Amino acid sequence: MQTKKIPVLISASEIQQRVRELAEEINQRHNDSLLVVGVLKGSFLFMADLVRLLSCPITVDFVQASSYGNSTESSGEVTMVKDLTVAARDKHILLVEDIVDTGNTLQALYWHLESYQPKSLQICTLLFKKHKYRLSIPIDYYGFTIEDQFVIGYGMDYAEQFRHLDYIGIYET
Ligand code: IMP
Ligand code: MG
Repeated sequence: MQTKKIPVLISASEIQQRVRELAEEINQRHNDSLLVVGVLKGSFLFMADLVRLLSCPITVDFVQASSYGNSTESSGEVTMVKDLTVAARDKHILLVEDIVDTGNTLQALYWHLESYQPKSLQICTLLFKKHKYRLSIPIDYYGFTIEDQFVIGYGMDYAEQFRHLDYIGIYET
């Protein structure tokens, strides 16, 4: 199935450079300890690269949400599949996402994490489909804005494939 050439949108070295810049930005704004919460599964590589460059004391946890829909389009309904396992009350949370598309997933996760009454809640996403975003939740850090196209690699999948790629490619049907 993986025989077609995948057009590269963002190369591995561009990703690594941008992750370093994001980490620097976070390091400049944060001295207090952070609870870094990765959204499974798509953020796993970004999260792994990012946390290794952060200089404040860190706790790591993961959440997983699922939205019903087909392989390239999410529906509005989001359910929590995996919740936090560490206490979030009075912590500074940094929520790490692979991509914010419609924002449905982010909104559901944001409300859910807010219910734990953290001291602060910030969002860091690698990719941001900015033109589609209609929510009022601020995106505090983002790596790249992209057009409305379906991307794969560096954690992101099409039908659970391609997550392992070290670059971000465009999925063409
Ligand atoms: P949203 O709820 O529409 O913002 O979609 C969020 C989730 O859908 C992301 O966390 C991804 O897991 C997935 N997703 C959205 N766009 C893409 C894409 O272009 N490629 C791969 N996954 C995507
Ligand atoms: Mg995701």
